[in-house]
Amino acid sequence: MCGIVGYIGARQAQDILLNGLERLEYRGYDSAGIAVMDGAKLGVRKCAGRIAELRRLTENSPLSGCIGIGHTRWATHGEPTDVNAHPHTAGRIAVVHNGIIENHAALRRHLTEMGCRFVSQTDTEAAAHLLNALYRGDMLLAIRQAMGQLEGSYALAVLCENEPDVIYCVRLGSPLVVGVGEGEMFLASDIPAILPYTRDVIILEDREIAVLRRSGVRVYDAQGKPREVKPYSVDWDAAAAEKGGYAHFMLKEINEQPRAVQGTLSAYCGSEGLHSLLDGVPERVDFIACGTAYHAGMAGRHYFRELAGVESEAHIASEYRYSRLFPHPGETVVAISQSGETADTLAALRSAAEAGVRTAALTNTVGSTLSRLARAAMLTYAGPEIAVASTKAYITQVETLLLAAIDLGLRNGNLAAERAEGLLSALRALPEKMETVLQNPQFIQQYCGRHMNTRLMFFIGRGIDYAMAMEASLKLKEVSYLACEAYAAGELKHGSIALIDEGIPVFAICTKESLLDKTLSNLRETKARGAETVCVCPERFAVRAGQDADIVWTVPDADEMLLPLLIMLPMQLLAYYMAAAKGRDVDKPRNLAKSVTVE
Ligand code: F6R
Repeated sequence: MCGIVGYIGARQAQDILLNGLERLEYRGYDSAGIAVMDGAKLGVRKCAGRIAELRRLTENSPLSGCIGIGHTRWATHGEPTDVNAHPHTAGRIAVVHNGIIENHAALRRHLTEMGCRFVSQTDTEAAAHLLNALYRGDMLLAIRQAMGQLEGSYALAVLCENEPDVIYCVRLGSPLVVGVGEGEMFLASDIPAILPYTRDVIILEDREIAVLRRSGVRVYDAQGKPREVKPYSVDWDAAAAEKGGYAHFMLKEINEQPRAVQGTLSAYCGSEGLHSLLDGVPERVDFIACGTAYHAGMAGRHYFRELAGVESEAHIASEYRYSRLFPHPGETVVAISQSGETADTLAALRSAAEAGVRTAALTNTVGSTLSRLARAAMLTYAGPEIAVASTKAYITQVETLLLAAIDLGLRNGNLAAERAEGLLSALRALPEKMETVLQNPQFIQQYCGRHMNTRLMFFIGRGIDYAMAMEASLKLKEVSYLACEAYAAGELKHGSIALIDEGIPVFAICTKESLLDKTLSNLRETKARGAETVCVCPERFAVRAGQDADIVWTVPDADEMLLPLLIMLPMQLLAYYMAAAKGRDVDKPRNLAKSVTVE
């Protein structure tokens, strides 16, 4: 969603801001802008559309100055127009904002009565006017006073012509990081924006205000008390956030999965054995998450039931938070989120904590709000994920949940040590098998070429394969815009089979021997109604699958518990090549954002 960048130093700010905004493009946006201060004079350039438009604007009319802030906006209040784009100005102040000011209407009324003139439809403009109204020569104080009046979530960066050598920023519920350089400081809502310049970052906490000068940064709490800060060194490098020869980040990230799985395994399972991933010995483990992360939770539910023998459910975060909770004394709720900033997931985690449930987070983002809210945090070691569609973060989420279930199963006595060791050694062999699948994408590419005009597709599976079918369907629809549906294989005949028609592709995902015949018989039902059927399964089921399916896609044989990790690779490639064949904006699908910070 929206992105923020800022720079203060000896270099011209304009290019650094534009480069930073480009590195945040993956978050999704529909307008962009920058404000640069030259001496005590603010200049603003902003427009609807892509950063390329903004670049054109700045080429025709450049901004000079060594201090500035920039923004990519994903419209919530008011359409994506030039006027609604950030920065917003009021008096001698310019502001960029991520998040939502919930009481913006009341503030707008009050400030209008005081004589302020609003030009945009945005909630942000209310924050700009409020700061301008409160400013009496001390911006730190004005920001602290404004915090008392602003409701909602925000990350704000502020420039003021009266203080031409400072950037102020503040956060509540929306991330902000300060990058520390030599004689220069950077600001961003997301680490990849500043990685080419520095790896030393300070992650701001909620209700903290940072004051950036060329010489350094000072961080204050809401009472104006300074906090001692020590930069943290990010271990990703800038190359990890670049395409490295691939046509798209999505393809690069799909291909990085063997390494991501290997990295996550080594982080949790060293020479001393498997680490404890969850605190204590929970008797019930529930998952809360959204979208793809929810599908990882659905897979986790199977692992915890089967390997740890504990009750487990996966919940959609935006539903969980409004449902009546029945907390169990031995329960742990695990919130899963790649970004660690998803508003629905954060709200659901807070509800669980308020109900007295023990909480844990599973995230790919060190220092994210989620990891700090939860009592304990587990990390996925996928590295930065830039494409909007989640691939490597998802696979490492499923893997980490598998490891956590093995660990709990060992500790609660449900899983024999030999079986656990068998699973771990199979996991060690998995990256090589993943490489085999990734080296042969041609048949998938050809399939997509033949089916790019298909109007509808179905994915079916039973048990954990239903979770995989859900994810395969989401991936395909979000990047290719092809209408598709996922069903529990036995459920299709209860209504949706009416949609099956001549040539509609139906994919059956089959990783479990005990469910193979049942799922194949559901596939046969669709074939009898004209569907073109594809079975995606391990090599050992190929002959059996070929008796019922028109097409069989295989992955190398592996332990049944690990097959879901392998089977997702052809499904992700299907989504990628279909989107590429249709000429979609693969890394930045329409209407979507990488980090969904609104409810
Ligand atoms: C789909 C996708 C989304 C996210 C969802 C939650 O590819 O990426 O469905 O999984 O928006 O995001 P996080 O994991 O950041 O909480």
